[in-house]
Amino acid sequence: MMSKRFQLIELLSEGRFCSGVQLAEKLAISRAAVWKHVQALVELGLDVHAVRGRGYQLRSPLQLLDRDRIQRFLSQHTLSRLDAVDIFNSVDSTNEYLRRNLDRLSPGRGRACMAEQQTAGRGRRGRSWVSPYGSSLYLSLAWFIDQPGMSISGLSLAIAVSVARALEEHGIERLGIKWPNDIFLEGRKLAGILLDLSGESGGAWRVVAGVGINVRMPSTAAEQIDQPWIDLSGLNVSVDRNRLAGQALEALVSDIIRFADQGLDSFTDEWTRYDLLSGRVIELRQGDRMIAGIARGIDTDGALLLEHQGTIRSYHAGEVSVRLAE
Ligand code: BTN
Repeated sequence: MMSKRFQLIELLSEGRFCSGVQLAEKLAISRAAVWKHVQALVELGLDVHAVRGRGYQLRSPLQLLDRDRIQRFLSQHTLSRLDAVDIFNSVDSTNEYLRRNLDRLSPGRGRACMAEQQTAGRGRRGRSWVSPYGSSLYLSLAWFIDQPGMSISGLSLAIAVSVARALEEHGIERLGIKWPNDIFLEGRKLAGILLDLSGESGGAWRVVAGVGINVRMPSTAAEQIDQPWIDLSGLNVSVDRNRLAGQALEALVSDIIRFADQGLDSFTDEWTRYDLLSGRVIELRQGDRMIAGIARGIDTDGALLLEHQGTIRSYHAGEVSVRLAE
């Protein structure tokens, strides 16, 4: 059964005033208990305010994830390849959840998971991913790629292209990708991708692709983010979270199938269009070494090409981090 707290969020989600008496009645709890839950929602980062005589209100309405609406944006083909689409109010991490269920995957098929909130959201390089309730998208897709011998290292770039395209379908323009897979807008990070791979080269791969998209970041959560970021709320587009979740999942499934069949090659034209670094002076950090040079696109495995003192060398995503030098 859904907990009282999440039922309360649902009752308030449209942004209308609800009196303490009404809420207490609907939830079958005392008014004091309603008040306690409201305090907990404030701690979750939700902007609930109380007005004497009128009750409680969420200052900005929430569009909660809704399975039926999400599935409307999935094709028959995608639905036929997914064994589950799990939607949670709260989970530690959608990637971790799917990793715990990897043995349920079968070849050429996948499972998806989304959540309103992550209590231990993970970013790249061991960082955490700030994941407040109801305001962003946390979406993961697990897939069993059964193509022995295929080179998997370009997958994270293909996933980034897939997400950028899904965002563009929402009218979001001038998106770019900072190698290997950060989605940027106006010089700030809009979405991040975390790929967990298990398998061995030459064999089959079980992958979990996790995508976090900043939709509307509450100010309390924003304070915890340690890099320049942007969300969709300030842009001139109206975003339906369920449509974005559905279209992003649709894109991920078809692109992961395309990657398994055709490899990174079939994404390189799109990659080049989004590539933020190409032709620019960048700094690579490799352990405690810094290498400056000019970014020259990617090689066939998705490694970054860097021109340094007249020679071009490739660097893999696991071994370096990148900064624009100008
Ligand atoms: C990055 O550091 O840029 C990667 C961020 C990835 C965040 C997403 S949110 C859904 C999925 N679950 C996680 O714990 N992380 C990814």
